[in-house]
Amino acid sequence: MNEQDTKASLPFSIPRFLFLLMVLITLLILITNIHRSECNYYSCSGPASNWKNFSDPKLYPSNNQQMVMNNFPWLVKLINCGYRNESFTAVERTEGMFLLKMIEWPNSPGTRTPVLKSTDPSHSHFLILNSQNTFHVGDQLQVMVHMYDFSGHPKQYGGDYLQARIHTPELKAGSVGTVVDYLNGSYKINFTLFWSGKVKVSVSLVHPSEAIQVLKRIRDERPDKVYFQSKFRSGTTTEKTQCNLCLPDDLPICNFTDLKTGEPWFCYKPKKLPCSARVNHARGGYQNGLLMTEESRFFQSKVNLQKTILPSGPDYVTVEASSRAGASLGQCVRGMSLTSPSGFYYKDQWMLTQCNIRRFNTPTSIIDCLQGKVVHLLGDSTIRQWFEYLDEFLPDLTKFDFGETKKNGPYTAVDIANKIMVKYRCHGPPIEFSDVSSQHLHYIANELDEIRGGKNSVIAITIWAHFSTFPVEVYIRRLQNIRRSIVQLLNRSPDTQIIMKTANVRALKPEHSIFHNDWNCFQLDSVLKKMFKDINVAFVDAWEMTIAHYLPHDIHPKPIIIKNEIDVFLSYLCPFKNA
Ligand SMILES: *[C@@H]1O[C@H](CO)[C@@H](O)[C@H](O)[C@H]1NC(C)=O
Ligand SMILES: *[C@@H]1O[C@H](CO)[C@@H](O)[C@H](O)[C@H]1NC(C)=O
Ligand SMILES: *[C@@H]1O[C@H](CO)[C@@H](O)[C@H](O)[C@H]1NC(C)=O
Ligand SMILES: *[C@@H]1O[C@H](CO)[C@@H](O)[C@H](O)[C@H]1NC(C)=O
Ligand SMILES: *[C@@H]1O[C@H](CO)[C@@H](O)[C@H](O)[C@H]1NC(C)=O
Repeated sequence: MNEQDTKASLPFSIPRFLFLLMVLITLLILITNIHRSECNYYSCSGPASNWKNFSDPKLYPSNNQQMVMNNFPWLVKLINCGYRNESFTAVERTEGMFLLKMIEWPNSPGTRTPVLKSTDPSHSHFLILNSQNTFHVGDQLQVMVHMYDFSGHPKQYGGDYLQARIHTPELKAGSVGTVVDYLNGSYKINFTLFWSGKVKVSVSLVHPSEAIQVLKRIRDERPDKVYFQSKFRSGTTTEKTQCNLCLPDDLPICNFTDLKTGEPWFCYKPKKLPCSARVNHARGGYQNGLLMTEESRFFQSKVNLQKTILPSGPDYVTVEASSRAGASLGQCVRGMSLTSPSGFYYKDQWMLTQCNIRRFNTPTSIIDCLQGKVVHLLGDSTIRQWFEYLDEFLPDLTKFDFGETKKNGPYTAVDIANKIMVKYRCHGPPIEFSDVSSQHLHYIANELDEIRGGKNSVIAITIWAHFSTFPVEVYIRRLQNIRRSIVQLLNRSPDTQIIMKTANVRALKPEHSIFHNDWNCFQLDSVLKKMFKDINVAFVDAWEMTIAHYLPHDIHPKPIIIKNEIDVFLSYLCPFKNA
């Protein structure tokens, strides 16, 4: 990858610009190949794992002035949307480049691939390797997937987004697979066999690579595709205007940028009222016409959107109990690194590969765990589900009703006798809720700065669903702000328990999936897992817990999944007491 070497081997007769072009292309090929060989769906090895000590990424020839100026292209996108360059530390600037490189997705060769040449799950198949063997619990199972297009020809390039699970319906058991893209139309999926019995394999194409090109374009070029609105009121006068992160400044605007975090937010200025008269924040709507006719054919239910791929041989293996003694697992403690697979269901109970989960099947067991504690649930509606679960399950926990608009919060519930307080609050904009008062629009980072912390303080955070329509840069910046506040909180009060819940998968409808889809969320989730890897927090891996489960995907997972999420959450707070 050394520029000098490339230069020396070139004949001098090539015109200068052609030569430069070739050098650039060579560098690009080298860089992308190296990257691809080191990354799979779940992780990147190599220098990527060292971002904290990583100085400037050497992606460009450093003697070129133009290149130095654009050293942080990810920042340019943010700065154009109102973020201030000065608010980033040097490490944060570098980290953004680094994370974007980590989640780089292979491009299909042409942006205008005809549908006939795009991935067709019905022509494609998977094959279990060595399916005739007898497997034992603890073994790896490998599956090859071969993709074909609609005309029945093998695909020659990768970039399809797949989800895969093994499962045994009679045992309500399930776990996810790790997908490796060979970039030639074939994919390998690794599973770990965790239970004995007849174990089935299911593979589904979530989006063909051709659809992902479209999703990428829409995500990155149309940050205005979802818009928001605010109401302004003074006396009897009310006005509504449109709001967003990247608002074209062709009209006068109100600048609601948060001074502490630097998170920008704008609304068009009302005609009569001042900006200070803003009373709420709400979802506005979705832009139409983002897809060209041909492109919409890459998003067809039952054809190439979230569609099962069939096996070309048996779709199951037989797994026997292992004579090898399973490693005995210890208590769950925060700071454990996330592995994949992080766990599996057995009899509808989520088990972790790293530690023992305790089951909180009775209200008393939860009350014992939470006694004397304040629980802060911060984020989107998928953590509000935790609030709702606790509120319903604990008879002595009483919710204050402030008459807030249904579902928007904030909520507080208390059990005075047991000194338990549970609070829920949504994260700051962008958030597609129906009606949040301006006064309740708090950024998680600022909220954390107001929490004293300590051993009776529990904080659970989830933030992802409302960011999947924005460029990933926006999400990275939000997490940097949250992480900074977490690190400060843990420095002043190291006993504070902080739990990060990851994203979960959802049902995909054709029209809606160009806005909210699993591929965008998968990218966000990879960023989250990476950014909080070395922080002393615990994870609840909702991503794997929703792919591994037998229930259909749903943005709001069903109670049995929430119950398991709560079990993982509480296992970090109140692990098994080893006898
Ligand atoms: C990375 O930085 C940390 C803390 O700044 C330090 O302890 C560690 O030794 C560094 N690692 C390398 C490979 O330089
Ligand atoms: C942002 O600031 C850094 C450090 O001052 C500087 O090196 C970089 O060129 C700036 N980037 C942009 C896009 O202004
Ligand atoms: C793609 O590459 C893998 C690994 O080298 C190989 O096993 C597979 O057969 C190849 N697939 C195609 C379609 O060439
Ligand atoms: C898949 O499993 C094989 C065999 O156990 C292992 O060598 C390989 O590293 C695994 N790949 C991933 C991406 O986990
Ligand atoms: C919005 O306000 C912030 C904070 O005062 C300021 O730094 C930024 O330049 C303003 N942005 C615009 C577009 O006016």
